[in-house]
Amino acid sequence: MSSPFAIVVKEISRSYGEIKALNKISLDIPEGKIFGLLGPNGSGKTTLIRSLIGSLEPDSGLLTVLGKNPIKDRFELRKHIGYMPQLSAVYEELSARDNIRFFGELQEVEDLENKVQSILEFTELTHRAEDPVRTYSGGMKKRVSLACAMIHEPKLLFLDEPTAAVDPHLKIQSWELFRKLAENGTTIVVSTHLMDEAFRCDQLCILNRGELIAMDTPKGILEKGRTTLSFKRNGKEEQQEISSEPTALAQTLKSFGLEADIHSIELYPDTIEDIVLRMVDKNTIPE
Ligand SMILES: Nc1ncnc2c1ncn2[C@@H]1O[C@H](COP(=O)(O)OP(=O)(O)O)[C@@H](O)[C@H]1O
Ligand SMILES: [Mg+2]
Repeated sequence: MSSPFAIVVKEISRSYGEIKALNKISLDIPEGKIFGLLGPNGSGKTTLIRSLIGSLEPDSGLLTVLGKNPIKDRFELRKHIGYMPQLSAVYEELSARDNIRFFGELQEVEDLENKVQSILEFTELTHRAEDPVRTYSGGMKKRVSLACAMIHEPKLLFLDEPTAAVDPHLKIQSWELFRKLAENGTTIVVSTHLMDEAFRCDQLCILNRGELIAMDTPKGILEKGRTTLSFKRNGKEEQQEISSEPTALAQTLKSFGLEADIHSIELYPDTIEDIVLRMVDKNTIPE
């Protein structure tokens, strides 16, 4: 019953007609961590999240969320799960305070008024708390949506592209907030198509066209990168591609020995984008 994983996914598949939105995906999501789903549009991120919250039934495979079945135990799980959908689901005519209170009442949260107040502070919305949401900026609406998703202090929080279309400053603030939540023990599953964001997660799974193409820590994924070594020998530019692991560089330098005619060496490591795009490209080549 008790598992070190908040979520266990075994070979789940889900199609929409001819489109395989998820193709035999397996993954384990540890408790108390930020787990990222990274992939381009249409890679299956939302379909996976909706399967995990029990709003969509996979065609096949097994799903365990907090030791329970997301469809059968949907009502019991609801208390422990928060979901911030990709498209805003807050009431535009209501204020932030009323929106959050409404979601809190649905969840039968105790001591609601105090909780609403503290979550307004946590999401930095107090100064506009009584204004209708329709007058807010995009970033503020996202924060209202986040506050509604977490008013009942869920153990598990699903955030579907929470910072898409949010300005860079707010994006950093949002991630500080997610990190604070994880430090307090919340397990966070967050989807994004942005690499810089994905690399703030503790663990990362890369999806493309419904396939899982890599799962690792961000560091592990970076180590899959390549580095171009560019050097001048006898006045001529030469290049050699090596793995980005530190041992690869040491070995290559050793192989050069102390060649007096090498005057300079420059390193061009893959960027995060290079690494992920290479994985995606490999997966996209038609058979
Ligand atoms: N309700 C739907 N009807 C038909 N196709 C869908 C539906 N929802 C998603 N899809 C398709 O399934 C694939 C995965 O979509 P989605 O899970 O939304 O990906 P992502 O969230 O990564 O952008 C896409 O090809 C998308 O067009
Ligand atoms: Mg999506």
